[in-house]
Formats: sequence, C-alpha cells, structure tokens
Amino acid sequence: MGDYILVIDEGTTSTRAIVFDRDLEQVAVAQKEVPLTYPNDGWVEQDGEEIWQKTLDVCRDAITQAGGVEKISGIGITNQRETTLVWDKTSGKPLAPAIIWQDRRTAQICDRMKADGHEPAVQAETGLLIDPYFSGTKIGWVLDNVEGARARAEAGELAFGTVESFLIWKLTGGASHVTDVTNASRTLLYRLGLGDDGGWSEAMCALFGVPASMLPEIRQNADDFGTSEESLFGKALPILSAAGDQQSALVGQACILPGTAKITYGTGAFLVANSGTDRPHSSNRLLGTVGYEGAGKGAMALEGSIFNAGTIVQWLRDDLRLVSDAGETEEIAAGLSNNGGVYIVPAFTGLGAPHWAADARGTITGITRATTAEHLVRAGLESVAYQTRDLLDAFEADGVAIKELRVDGGMVANDWLMQFIADICERPILRPDYREMTALGAAALAAIQLGWLKPEDWAERDVPGTTFEPKMQPTEAARLRQGWATALRKTLA
Ligand code: G3P
Repeated sequence: MGDYILVIDEGTTSTRAIVFDRDLEQVAVAQKEVPLTYPNDGWVEQDGEEIWQKTLDVCRDAITQAGGVEKISGIGITNQRETTLVWDKTSGKPLAPAIIWQDRRTAQICDRMKADGHEPAVQAETGLLIDPYFSGTKIGWVLDNVEGARARAEAGELAFGTVESFLIWKLTGGASHVTDVTNASRTLLYRLGLGDDGGWSEAMCALFGVPASMLPEIRQNADDFGTSEESLFGKALPILSAAGDQQSALVGQACILPGTAKITYGTGAFLVANSGTDRPHSSNRLLGTVGYEGAGKGAMALEGSIFNAGTIVQWLRDDLRLVSDAGETEEIAAGLSNNGGVYIVPAFTGLGAPHWAADARGTITGITRATTAEHLVRAGLESVAYQTRDLLDAFEADGVAIKELRVDGGMVANDWLMQFIADICERPILRPDYREMTALGAAALAAIQLGWLKPEDWAERDVPGTTFEPKMQPTEAARLRQGWATALRKTLA
C-alpha cells in the first residue's frame, strides 16, 4: 500500500487529478480543459466520452508525477453536480451528450409542473425546488428525445448517473453502478434524509418518469465504491470516496459544526451551510441537501446556488475582450473610485437562488456617455458580491445566521473582490492559504475511509489563511445594494 491518495476533481470547465500525501498536502496536479458546447438557446453540453478520456489522461499524468502507481493507496472523486448522463449498460456508451447543470432546456417542463402545483410536494420530499438545474427533468428529456430510449430504459438496458457515477462505472469496467448521498440529493429523485431516512423516492421517480432500474446504488461519501480495473493504471485501486464538489468543499473547509458555512466561487458560486442533523426546510427558496455522510457521522446542509460567478470574468475576457487575463480585473476594479452607477446582473443562464428565474437573461443598467470598459469590468466583479449578500439574507430569513464566510475557488485570488465581498456582506471573509478545498474534501473523505484520519480530528482542524474584515461605511454599502436591487428588478420584470 502506498502513502498517497489520487483525487479526481471533475469540474464544469476542466477535469483535474491531484495527488495528496498522508498529511493531505498536495504532491502533484494535472489538468485538462473539457469544452462546453451551446447547441441551442439555453442548452449546455459536454461529451461524456471526452470527460472520461481526459480524466484518465490527467490521472495517469498525476500518478507519474507522484512517482508511480505503487505510491497510490486509492482514489477519491469530486464532481460538478446535477450534470446528467444516460448510458448503455452493455457498451458503457452515453446515449446523448452530458446535459450540464446550467442547461435550461427543460424550463417549460418545469413551468408546467409548477403550474400543476407539484412544487410543495417536491420540496417536502427532496428539499429542492422544481428547476431545470437538477437532474430529474434532464433524465426525462433524454428518455423522451433519444429514439427508443424510454423503452430501453424500461427494459433495464440503460443507466443514469451524475458525473462521479459515470466515472466510477468507467473506472470499474461497469462493475459498480453507484453514486453517493450528496450527488443523489441533487437529482430531485432522493428522499432527503441521513442514513435510512434517505433513499430513492418512488413517488419522485414516478413524477419525473424515471424507471428505478436506471438508478445507481447510493453510498456514503466515505465508502466502498468498487475497484478500478488494473489495466487502467497498472494496479487496481480502491475507490474510497465520492462527493459533489460543493459538499466536498464544505468538508475541505472543515465546516463540521452547525452554522459554519463556505462559498466556492467556481463557474457558479455555491453557498453551503452545515445545518446539523435535522432535515432543513427553507421558506426563502434555498435548497435542503445532504452535507456529507461517512464513518458514522453526517450533516445536512442548506444551500444557495448562484449560476454565474467565474463565467462573468470569462465573458469579460473571451467575449467582450475587455481584459486578456482574469488577473487584470483586480487592478482595473481597484483603479476606479466607484462603479460609475453601472450594474451588471449576469443572468446568462437564468438566475438561481433565491429567485429561480430560468428564463431571466442578463442586464446592464446605469450606462451613460461616461461609462468605460473599466466600469463594466468592475460591475461584473461587484455582481458576485451582491449575489452573495442576497443569499446571506435568505439564509438569515430561514433562521441560519452566518457570522463569517469561508471562501474558496478560482476567484478568491482577487484581493479587491474579497474586500468588496466583505464590505457588501458586512461579515468577515476567511480565505484559506490552500485553495483547492474541493479536492481536499475528497482527499479527507478518502483518508477517513482508509483509517488515516478521524472525522473528529478533521473537525478541529485549523485552516490557515487571510481574513478580510468589512471596512466600508454601512450607509455606502446600503446605497450600492439599493442600486443592485433596482437592476435586479429590471432583470426580473
Ligand atoms: O451544482 C453545480 C456545481 O457543482 C458546479 O460547480 O465548481 O464546476 O462551478 P463548479
């Protein structure tokens, strides 16, 4: 047995492999981009086979960098959630491109279900709301739009899985068709609960038209997910952990106590608060979900999902071409004394929590003849802070007071943005020195499964980093938020 854990972090824009040692320090990393395609308005897809091949490539690369497969004790997986794959159980080939979590193609189906009054029952059973974001209606779309798929699913020939489930199927050569509780809790098909209280919901499977034979078996986050085929890496490796990326970051940030919370600024931004062992219920359009489960411990969580965060900087860079590198946005924003009255509401793929407006599209307000490219850059960054504050207010209205917020993800390298978020949110922002909290969470879960780490030791962990304290005058923060609220009203009108 080796001393390292290989973590696969399959995110929305890239797939990565990171090797950690026994102290959960990073030893090696490899990464490949996986392109997203937008074949129709509101559609977002990736090629499932490409996700698999590139994941395999980065794993092999990271294993070589780490000194060879003999050093690896096992695999942990974390992934973009909700993204839906349906594949043939015999060939392992996907029937259609992966439908990405951002995809809005089922918006009308969701509207109909809401108009028919199904949402309260869905929320009571799953903790979620009816929205194209989740896997439920995406699976139905594949079954109804790929010729013969529904009949084949009913005959037991097809498998559904989110990305970790698909990767585990591939890694094990089809021996394991499994998922974990956190990913299951994002499908709209899972009866929300810890331990035996949770499980696939017959009522939801019937409502969303998903045959039970397609569903993977559900495991805890630290568990036995099967063993990778020897031919892939030269040695069979046990798969020790799996968790959706946001829940994995919750573990990585050691948010083990109720009330502790983190937000990860990736493609989107996801604020997840540990809500203890009770089943969460939101009256403010937040989501109840599983936080983590393993080694006899578990927690539920309340989540607010922002669909566009890192995508704003990508848009400023790749489409508007206002910057050539994401890092330039920091200096540009800091170089202005204010936002010039400009607000951007980045509803590129609708708005998530707490609005859930699938059909909303982005707006820019307050433009005058004096507006410059720099104002647009700053307004883009500022929108991330306003969206975070809107979530915090919804959490507070639900009775979850978040006193300080732990942050991670690519955007947190931007000091100006971190200070602005602290100012607008009027709370301390804690940025860890080590930023790969998503991968670290999966590594910690794998270490727990190996017996290298006790959950209670992880809970006590000190996360070294920088704290950004709010400095802005409250009246100024309120004035800016007023401007944002006006822009938001126009977007939602
Ligand atoms: O729910 C979607 C989320 O899991 C995607 O995360 O980091 O790829 O934007 P990320």
